[in-house]
This record gives sequence, structure tokens and C-alpha cells, in this order.
Amino acid sequence: MGLSLRDTLIDQPAKRPQSRARLEPLPSILKVAILGFGTVGRAVAELLCCSPALPLRLTHIYNRNVDRKRVPWIPSRVRWTDNFDEILASDVDVIVELVGGVRPAGDWVRRALHAGKSVVTANKHLIATEGDELLELARKTGQRLEYGASVAGGVPVLCGLEQGLAGEHLFRLTGVLNGTCNYILSKMENEAVSFRDALARAQEMGYTEADPSHDLGGFDASCKLAILARVGLGAQLNPQDVYSRSIEGVEAVDFEYARKLGCTIRQVAIAELKGTELYAAVQPTLVPLGSPLAQTRDNQNVLITAGVHGGETVFAGCGAGGGPTSVAIVSDLVSISRGPSFTGSHNPPELKSYPLNLDLESPRYLRLSVREGTNISDAVGRVLVESGVCVRSVLQKSDSGSTGSVLVMILESCPVSILEVALKRLKELIDCLASAVTLPIMS
Ligand code: HSE
Repeated sequence: MGLSLRDTLIDQPAKRPQSRARLEPLPSILKVAILGFGTVGRAVAELLCCSPALPLRLTHIYNRNVDRKRVPWIPSRVRWTDNFDEILASDVDVIVELVGGVRPAGDWVRRALHAGKSVVTANKHLIATEGDELLELARKTGQRLEYGASVAGGVPVLCGLEQGLAGEHLFRLTGVLNGTCNYILSKMENEAVSFRDALARAQEMGYTEADPSHDLGGFDASCKLAILARVGLGAQLNPQDVYSRSIEGVEAVDFEYARKLGCTIRQVAIAELKGTELYAAVQPTLVPLGSPLAQTRDNQNVLITAGVHGGETVFAGCGAGGGPTSVAIVSDLVSISRGPSFTGSHNPPELKSYPLNLDLESPRYLRLSVREGTNISDAVGRVLVESGVCVRSVLQKSDSGSTGSVLVMILESCPVSILEVALKRLKELIDCLASAVTLPIMS
């Protein structure tokens, strides 16, 4: 990708020596409280209750209005409560935070650490935005804060980066990091399910965030990308700063054109160090059918790391839903039960702030639809040329239909800023423009 070994090595921050924080000695069986009894909380409780060999005992379940959540299969020794202070005052060793969001979850994590409880969380939003401060607090209080479930559900990507690839100099992370979007796009591709139906199904399966726009618009994947950039690239990345585009607007017909190009469509997250700059984007993208990104189905996630010495490594598996996420959480609990960790939360790398470059360059797919049978191809061609955007090929030029017309083009690589100016001009010029879909094409 035009990156020399020297450039990459120079810009990698040094790894911090192992922390000297003294961890509290742990009992042989950890007492565990779950905060939040939704899809994931139930799955964690099930796993804990049906795994007597694990050195973990569920003792408390917290939820607001807890009585409506009670289920008969939880052993009677487990205490149900809607009072968080009761859990803080108890002899619980580890609190599993599954409340989600930044408030009040962040304050509860702080209070838990101050109260001498370790914390396991699946909360990517919290870790992406306040993770540094919370990890520092965990170090100071001698507790563990583990968040393996925050990225890619059951796929152990964070410990894969922290441990398995600790000797690598990674410069690029590319992934499908949102199970909801992958479910929707792969259902549209393979089973001709409509966008709305696929979203409703994903909600039923418990894949979506409380606000599904966080999935569709890319914020969920941006939070995961920020965590990965920190762990894998040693780079600070605010999820709000990631260039992101929604998958809403992608239609069945886009999959047909993508296939003509030997591609399909996935929500792709990418963070890449190029010299002194960091590129970070989450957007629907045309990916070649042979890529591991294209082969993800349903709630699967995949992460492809690129390193200077070992080349590419692929992590893949189920990334959303109760089952996979509960495995990641219980694995973090088991890790805590095994005693002090010399990786992960106690030894994060020293982070570097790279200038962010969001003016991403790539060839693009462009589909323009107009409401009436207006001839738009000449006007579109003129605006694109005047804006400095070159057309590589025209896939579809249907200018005469009574129900509207469609123009599908492949554009030569250009910075996104130039394309956005061209699209703005097109929208001003063509007042019957019904939709304009632009998707980068991954080489
Ligand atoms: N809403 C998230 C997703 C849940 O769809 O991937 C798992 O992080």
C-alpha cells in the first residue's frame, strides 16, 4: 500500500513496559454480578449457570424494574435487585456491565473499580470514548477492566492483537465489525430479503443497538474501530472523527451491479497508518467476492490485519447476539479468575495521536436514479468532468423509461472531497434526482 518498512516503524509508538500495578489476590471462585438482563445478560447468566466447572459463581442480577425480568431457571441463591448500591456493598468480585451507553454505565464502572470490584464489559461506546481513563483507574485501584466482548463478539480479536500479534508492526486493520449491517446486507444479497425486513429480523435476533441508527450509520463500527486502532496500531482515534456513511440507500439492484464487477457489498471499517497520517472510515463498500470480507454471512464479523513482517492475518466468526458475546464475556471472567494479567488492561501501549486524513481516495460505484424518464446522462457527464471526476465505465444507461431512469457508472479513483462537491452540484442541477448511491470499490 505504498508504505515502507521504515515509515511504519518510525511511526509506531513504543510499547509501554509492563505495569507494576499490584493486583488484589483473588478467591478461587469468583462471585459475579450481571448489570443488565437483556439479550446478552441472559446469555451470560445461562452460560454461568450451565457451566459448573468454571471457577465463577453468579450471585447477583441487576436490572431496572427487575421484577419484570425474573426467569425461573436462575437458581434461587442468585439475588435479583434494582439497587446498584446493593451490589457495590456486597462481596461480589467482578461486575459484568451490560447496561450499554456512556451514562450511567461509565459512572457505575468507576464506582465498581473504586469499591474494589473488577469489571468486564461489552460496552464499545464506553471503552472507545472513556477507555483510557477507566483503564488508568483500574490500574490505580488494582482491579481488572476487561472488554474483549466490545469488538467482534465471540471472535477473540483483541487478545489476538494484544498477545498473538504483539511482535508485529501492524499498519492496517480492515473489517466487517457490525453484525446487524452484515445480517442485513447478506440477507439482501443471498435471500432477496428487503432492507426493512432484514433490519426487523436483526432486531428480533437481538443483534441491533437500542438505537439501530448506530448500527446502520456506522457509529457502532466506528467505536469498535477506535478500540482496535488503539490496541492494534497504538493510535488514538475518536469514534466521532471516523469518516462514516450509512448503509441505508443500498438497494437490491446495487448487489446486481456489484456482481457484474465480481463484488458484493459490505459495511467495511478500515483504519490505516500511511506515513504520518491515520485514515479511518466505516462505509458500505464494494468488496471482491474472493475477499474474506465478502464471505461473511448473517451476524459474522471478520478482521484482516496487515503487518510489516507477517503480512495479513484473518480473524472471523460470529460478532453479535447473545451466544457469541456471552462467550467473550465469560472468557474475560475466566481470565480474571486465573490471576494477574500482563497484557490487556494492565499494559496498554503508549498511544500516539496521528493527524487524521479523511479525504479517502478510491475508485467508486455511482448509481443515480431519477423519478421521471428524463435524460440525465449528458448533464451528469458534464458535471463530473467539470468537477474533475473521471468516468472509467458506464454499466447502465437507461434514459427513457416512464417510471424513471437509472445511470450506473464506475468512477476513477479520486478524493472523496472532490466527489462530494460533484454530487452536490448534481443534486442542484437535477431536481428529479431520487437517489444517488456512491460506494468505494476495494481493490
Ligand atoms: N449492534 C452490534 C452489532 C452488537 O450489530 O454488531 C454487537 O456489538
